[in-house]
Amino acid sequence: MCGIVGYIGNQQACPILLDGMSKLEYRGYDSAGIAVYDGKRIDIEKCVGRLQALRIKIQGHEPQGTVGIGHTRWATHGRPSDRNAHPHCDESGRFVVVHNGIIENYLELKEYLLEKGHRFSSDTDTEVVAHLMADQYDGDFLSTVKKVIRRIDGSYSLVFLCADEPDKLITTKKDNPLVIGLGEGENFIASDIPAIIGHTRRTYIMSDGEIAIVTKDAVRVEDLNGNPINKKVYNVTWNAEAAEKGGFEHFMLKEIYEQPKAVRETMRGRLGKEEGTIDFPELNWTKADLRGIKKVFIVACGTAYHAGLVGKYYLEKFARIPVETDIASEFRYRDPLVDSSCLMIVISQSGETSDTLAALREAKRLGARTMAVTNVVGSSIAREADQVVYTYAGPEIAVASTKAYTTQLIVMLMLGIYVGRLRGELSDELARTLTRDLREIPEQIHAMLEDTEQIKIFAKRYGSSENAFFLGRSLDYFVALEGALKLKEISYIHAEAYAAGELKHGTLALVVEGLPVIVLATQADVYPKTISNLKEVKAREAEVIAIALQGDREIDKVADHVIYVPKTDKFLAPILAVLPLQLLAYYAALTRGCDVDKPRNLAKSVTVE
Ligand code: AGP
Repeated sequence: MCGIVGYIGNQQACPILLDGMSKLEYRGYDSAGIAVYDGKRIDIEKCVGRLQALRIKIQGHEPQGTVGIGHTRWATHGRPSDRNAHPHCDESGRFVVVHNGIIENYLELKEYLLEKGHRFSSDTDTEVVAHLMADQYDGDFLSTVKKVIRRIDGSYSLVFLCADEPDKLITTKKDNPLVIGLGEGENFIASDIPAIIGHTRRTYIMSDGEIAIVTKDAVRVEDLNGNPINKKVYNVTWNAEAAEKGGFEHFMLKEIYEQPKAVRETMRGRLGKEEGTIDFPELNWTKADLRGIKKVFIVACGTAYHAGLVGKYYLEKFARIPVETDIASEFRYRDPLVDSSCLMIVISQSGETSDTLAALREAKRLGARTMAVTNVVGSSIAREADQVVYTYAGPEIAVASTKAYTTQLIVMLMLGIYVGRLRGELSDELARTLTRDLREIPEQIHAMLEDTEQIKIFAKRYGSSENAFFLGRSLDYFVALEGALKLKEISYIHAEAYAAGELKHGTLALVVEGLPVIVLATQADVYPKTISNLKEVKAREAEVIAIALQGDREIDKVADHVIYVPKTDKFLAPILAVLPLQLLAYYAALTRGCDVDKPRNLAKSVTVE
């Protein structure tokens, strides 16, 4: 997510803005910029790269003035570049804006503005807002902001600066964080508390639909119709480091709890208005495009590979297209049978994993069409794939991937529906069921995250174990693989996932008394067999934690413990069933005193073979 800062007061704004932006660097960004009113005009300075590049660029001619806005950009629309960096302005330079989020209807607004003669200097959705300010300007800054807000759809935190009324900043939000820091003779705006905690701990936490008019001596908050809103002052008690984690103890836990929003943002604009339809404007495939595709390869590493296994299931089930999955480091060396009749889908959170990038290049060399599913705009994999579908999980800082995984599943499910409909293989009825249940997922994740006491107890009880098994069949097996990876990579417990049907072929020999075995049992078509596998390990005195759908009346008769996930269509169960496994890994690692965010020997992005 982007970082936003604003300042209005008696001090020079530039150093305060840069300092605030540096406190938001942890969120991940690819470019940065500031805009300061210097008494006559608004001086905008911005560039691609780190904050240091911006400091070097303005050295010796720092913008002078006591009101300004700043931004660290995490690209969503438009590659990382100087021209796409924020702040953005209209052609006159009188209206300047910084933005965090996605303007969903920016293309239609851009068309409207282009027809009215506006000329754009960037590829971003945000620049449309600045031009719309100029287009709608009626001589009053606040009323113009309100007119603009009424025209935009999507998710946003916005801060506006207007050269005609430089004694105020105006800010608003929808589905994105925004706080106001209350100073003495000065006030601060930020997308996140770390940026202002060094100046004041007295804040307003803004809510959707609220508009704040911020001068150096006052902050007035009202709604879109001008009705005043009395905000309660929220005193921040966190220290700076905790503030970066939004009050969570670790980035991993913060990112687990960001999953409702990450999933919502990833679905935004892609769930068609008609139930059962999916839109991928960035793909715009037709039946003809797919006619030439005889086989799909899904290639990735680690957690992304586990998402790929689920993706294979979706594409084969809904689109009836053959899919091969490979671990990237294996794909490259097995002389794969790839040609121009193949589509290669690579999945990568970072978009920089060298094995995955190399597999992508190999597939291209062999003539395949390529598509990337990645979380980082402008990453190497995003740039080299023929087409890209982004997950909008926001920066993932913890080494253990959580929100990236669930958003990858969401993308693969939507892709399965999209391709299945295009190929005429997916029934309207099932498509409608899937998209209807998809809409419920963010709220269901939120509800699950509200009650984690049972998982904390299991983590304490089994945290001292040196081994653990994860079992499942079909989609449950793929989630078991992900659950085992989570547990082993941050708690160092030797956790292995097996296809439950494999037990008798050897692994049952490892089952001993007291061994914790997590059994996923969400898939109705293989449920009876999963139950019999569960009984096999129970017969060897293992301790079984089952993951089952709410309403399952059988499982608690055979398992020692059951964690229920909300009822959803079995195809969507992986998206929910992984949550208790993420939390189990997290709390087990805590129990063992492990470094949750930076586990030993591991890096967030494996950019070497
Ligand atoms: C996930 O928890 C791991 N940190 C790791 O397996 C990761 O998924 C893998 O390295 C792939 O990374 P990528 O998605 O950035 O390509």
